[in-house]
Amino acid sequence: MAVEKTFFLETFGCQMNVHDSEKVIGTLQQQGYSQVETEEAADLILYNTCSIRDKAEQKVFNRLNDTKKLLKQGKRFGVLGCVAQQEGEAIFERAPYVSLVSGSASYRKLPEMLARLEAGEKRIAGLDDRQTDETFETEFTARSNKYRGYITIIEGCDKFCAYCVVPYTRGKERSRTSTSVLAEARRMAESGYTEVQLLGQNVNSYRDPEGKRSFAELLAAVAEIAGIRRVRFTTSHPRDFTQDIVDVIDAVPALCNHVHLPVQSGSTSTLKRMQREYTREQYLERIGWIKQSQRPISITTDIIVGFPGETVAEFEETLSLLETVQFDAVFAFKYSPRPNTPALVMIDAIPDEEKGKRLQALLDRQREWQRANYTKRIGQIVEVAVEGHNAQRGQVNGRTSENITLNFAPSGPILPAPGSYAQVEVTQSFPNSLVGRAV
Ligand code: SAH
Ligand code: SF4
Ligand code: F3S
Repeated sequence: MAVEKTFFLETFGCQMNVHDSEKVIGTLQQQGYSQVETEEAADLILYNTCSIRDKAEQKVFNRLNDTKKLLKQGKRFGVLGCVAQQEGEAIFERAPYVSLVSGSASYRKLPEMLARLEAGEKRIAGLDDRQTDETFETEFTARSNKYRGYITIIEGCDKFCAYCVVPYTRGKERSRTSTSVLAEARRMAESGYTEVQLLGQNVNSYRDPEGKRSFAELLAAVAEIAGIRRVRFTTSHPRDFTQDIVDVIDAVPALCNHVHLPVQSGSTSTLKRMQREYTREQYLERIGWIKQSQRPISITTDIIVGFPGETVAEFEETLSLLETVQFDAVFAFKYSPRPNTPALVMIDAIPDEEKGKRLQALLDRQREWQRANYTKRIGQIVEVAVEGHNAQRGQVNGRTSENITLNFAPSGPILPAPGSYAQVEVTQSFPNSLVGRAV
């Protein structure tokens, strides 16, 4: 009789990691494992890790330490994702009870690695580096949401920004064929998905290996699949952001009116040290294209404060860029020195306290700009994708096409179901969300 095999998986990091975990879960289930909710109940404990900033990396080692006491009961541990790729076999030294270490570029070998684990091997490493041309495609993806799902279209990164680990942890850029992406989107639509989010570290660096479709054409083709009502894509790199992306958003209603375009800094000299390969002016030119679109497109960004050598004047250029653009959301981080990256040799002389001050000043200003921008939306009628309910308050929550959270009062006693769409009038605004009533 087959013994039931169980696994626990916790995910850290970005949407790419979240979606990789859905593929890993599907693959494990295919191999006869069932997922359990606690480490205690699992035979195999997996952490899908992130190393983008030092804090993220520390979290993983803390978690491993906390869980180690479960070892007595003969459990096995695996470390997946970006810390696994970065630290490699050194993890076996640092945490000797770990028996599987695998980066994302090796997940296609998971079934084989699991078989070796079951055969009793103690140290299995999947550490394909930048050489690989393969992507991780599986028909067994176990998506956690029934209406809204991710599709990876491009993996890895070839940009080598001076501060960033991703080119080392996720390997070189490699795109899936548009035929395969469209087939997956069609399967999702047939099983009831209405929203698709196309993923890549630089999603707009997509190059169809078959040469059939540009990135903009792929967006249009996914958006035209029957049943798909919303298509999002993230993250766009300014260097590869072209006018035809704005044109296709204008032309195809199912493409959401939102672009996430990380700028990192508003200062050309800082951008140069960061090796971002665009200037403040070139970034603002792209913002100009987006703002000239027929329908209003929401723009969000990422910022790093306190990059080595950032002067007060350079930091103020970032504030002035934020004021000029009027972003709907800004994800801002203090610079964190990372292993292997070119910036590691630069002198990180800005004290942590000063980085903290700059971060807080930026967030305070942005909050006020956002408050004003969100207030302008009062009175608008918007479409909301319903995600859930707050039974206590009799409220429904969901997201607008711009990806803004909106809580609304239903029009009658029956609450609209998750996965449905509602027309809502905006009645109130906060710096990060909207409130409304169904019309
Ligand atoms: N590929 C995307 C985002 C990658 S990581 C892009 O190029 O924009 C997500 C965000 O983490 C980055 O946009 C950046 O703002 C932040 N980040 C990356 N490395 C960092 C580091 N060493 N310290 C602080 N923030 C960092
Ligand atoms: Fe990191 Fe730059 Fe690649 Fe983005 S483009 S993942 S910031 S190296
Ligand atoms: Fe983190 Fe790796 Fe994503 S470092 S942000 S999980 S690509």
